[in-house]
Amino acid sequence: YPVESIRNFSIIAHVDHGKSTLADRLLEITGTIAKTDRNKQVLDKLQVERERGITVKAQSASIFYNHEGVNYLLNLIDTPGHVDFSYEVSRSLSACQGVILVVDANEGIQAQTVANFYLAFEAQLAIIPVINKIDLKNADPERVEKQIEKLFDIPTEECVRISAKQGTNVEKVLQKVIEKIPPPQCNTADPLKALVFDSTFDHYRGVIANIALFGGEIEKGHKIVSAHTKKRYEVNEVGILTPNEQPTHKLYAGQVGYLIAGMKEVTEAQIGDTLFLYKQPVEPLPGFKSAKPMVFAGMYPVDQTEYNNLKSALERLTLNDSSVTVHRDSSLALGAGWRLGFLGLLHMEVFNQRLEQEYNMSVILTAPTVPYKAILSSAKLIKDRRAVQKDMLYIDERRVMLKYLFPLNEIVVDFYDALKSLSSGYASFDYEDAGYQAADLIKMDILLNGNPVEELSTIIHNDKAYATGKFLCERLKDAIPRQLFEIAIQAAIGKKIIARETLKAYRKNVVAKCYGGDITRRMKLLKRQAEGKKLMRKIGNVEVPRDAFIRVLKRQ
Ligand code: GTP
Repeated sequence: YPVESIRNFSIIAHVDHGKSTLADRLLEITGTIAKTDRNKQVLDKLQVERERGITVKAQSASIFYNHEGVNYLLNLIDTPGHVDFSYEVSRSLSACQGVILVVDANEGIQAQTVANFYLAFEAQLAIIPVINKIDLKNADPERVEKQIEKLFDIPTEECVRISAKQGTNVEKVLQKVIEKIPPPQCNTADPLKALVFDSTFDHYRGVIANIALFGGEIEKGHKIVSAHTKKRYEVNEVGILTPNEQPTHKLYAGQVGYLIAGMKEVTEAQIGDTLFLYKQPVEPLPGFKSAKPMVFAGMYPVDQTEYNNLKSALERLTLNDSSVTVHRDSSLALGAGWRLGFLGLLHMEVFNQRLEQEYNMSVILTAPTVPYKAILSSAKLIKDRRAVQKDMLYIDERRVMLKYLFPLNEIVVDFYDALKSLSSGYASFDYEDAGYQAADLIKMDILLNGNPVEELSTIIHNDKAYATGKFLCERLKDAIPRQLFEIAIQAAIGKKIIARETLKAYRKNVVAKCYGGDITRRMKLLKRQAEGKKLMRKIGNVEVPRDAFIRVLKRQ
C-alpha cells in the first residue's frame, strides 16, 4: 500500500451518539468482520466496556477498501466519549490525519461534541461531520446541521446524514474519508520513526506496543532502539489490528499497527516514545503531555499478603492506562498501599473494576478527594466561593452553552448525576482545569475519646464540615463494637467539637448464648473473639477493628 492510499482516522462524538455502532458498520460493509449479532461493538474488548456499554480504551482496526478501482488501507482508531477519557482521545488523534465527528440527530451538539471538535481542530485534522440516528422519530438533522454551522463554521452541505444502526449512507462516509482526509505525509525511504501511541501487557508475549509509522519501515529481526530508555531490542513480530492482531511481513511509513520486541518490563514501553533503527537515530516525536489527575484515592489490598500481587497488577494496568498516577502510601489501619490519581470518578471506578475483572484483585478504595494547595496562615478568610458564570452562548433557540468556574471538589463526586436528573437527562457536561483558587477550607479531625484517628482526617469546605462530621461520627458508631467503657466519637475543627456520637459501654459476651453448655463450642467462640482482636488497632484505649475503617472509608 503506497502512502497515498492510506487514511488514518478516528471517530469522535459525545457519549452514546453512536461511535461504536458506526465503527461496527464500517468494519462490516468492508468485510473486515462478519455481519453477525455477536459482533456488536467489536472494538469494545474489555469486559468493563461491554458491561457499562461505554468505550474506555481506544482500539484500532485496519480496513481494506476498494473505491473506484483503487485499493485503500483505512486505519480506524476508536476513541472513548466520556468526559473522563478525553486523554485517550487526544492520544488517538496524534496518529490520525482526520476525524469523523458524529452528532446524534435528536440530541444535537452536546458538551463532548464541542470538546472533541476542538481537540481535532487544534490538531489541524480534517473533520467530516456526520449526523447519526436519522431513523429516529424525533430526528431533526436540519436543526443539527445549523448548530454545526453556527458553532464550528462547517457549511451545512458538508454534513452526511446517516443511520449507523440501519446502515443508511454509511458507504458515503467511507467515500468522504477517502476524499477529505489527506494521506499521512511520510516516506518509506526515510529512516524508521515509529510513535508508540498505546501499549498493552500480554501474559505470554510481554508488552504489545501500538505504533504509528511516521517514516521508514519495520520487520521481524530489525534491531530497534527506544528514544526514551535508549534500550535496544530485536523485533519479534509486527502486524496490523483487524481488530485482532494479525501478523504481517512488514509495516511501512503511514501505517498503524503493533509490535512485539521482547519488552518484558512494563516500564519499557512508554506511551509517546519514539522507536528508531539501531545506529540510525532520528529526532524523537514530541510525545504526549502527561495527563493531569483530578481525583485521588487510597488503594490497599484487602489482605496484606496480596500486596506484591496487587503491585504487579497495578504496574500492568497502568501500562495500559498511563493516565493513572501511582504513589506508595501507607496507613496504620489499612497497611501498605498506594495513593492513586485519576482523571475523574468514572475513571476511578472503571480502573477499580478492571483490576477486579482482569487481574482478579480485591482492593479497598478510600473515599476520593481532590488536590488542594494549602497555604498555612491565620488569614484564610476569603468569602465562600460558589460557581461563577463566565460565558453563555445560544447554540439555537432550544439549547444554550454555559461556562462556569467551579471548585473541583463540588463537581467531582455527584455533580454530573445531579445535573442529569435536574434536566431530565437533557443537559450535558464537560470540564477542564482552571487552576487553583483560594477557598475557605479547613482540616477536620475525628476523635475517639479525645485521640485523633489519622485515617479519617479530611480537608473540607467550611460549609460542609458540620454535615460530613455528623455523617462520619454516625457511621463510626455503627462500625465500632461496644467496649468495656463508653466511647465519645467526635468531629473537631482545631479545638472546636462540631459533632458527637456516644457509643455505650458493653462487654460483648460471646458465650452468653451457650447457657454454659457445650465446652467445645465455648472454646471455639472464645478463639474467634481472640482472632478478631488481632485485626484491631488501638487508638488511645479504644480498639477499632480494621473492618470498621474499611466500612467508614469505603465509598458506598
Ligand atoms: P461510547 O462508546 O460509550 O462512547 O458510546 P458510542 O458513541 O460508541 O455509542 P454506541 O455506538 O454505543 O451507541 C449508543 C446507542 O445508540 C446504542 O444503544 C445504539 O444502538 C444506538 N444507536 C447507534 N446508532 C444508531 C442509529 O443510527 N439509530 C438508532 N435508532 N440508534 C442508534
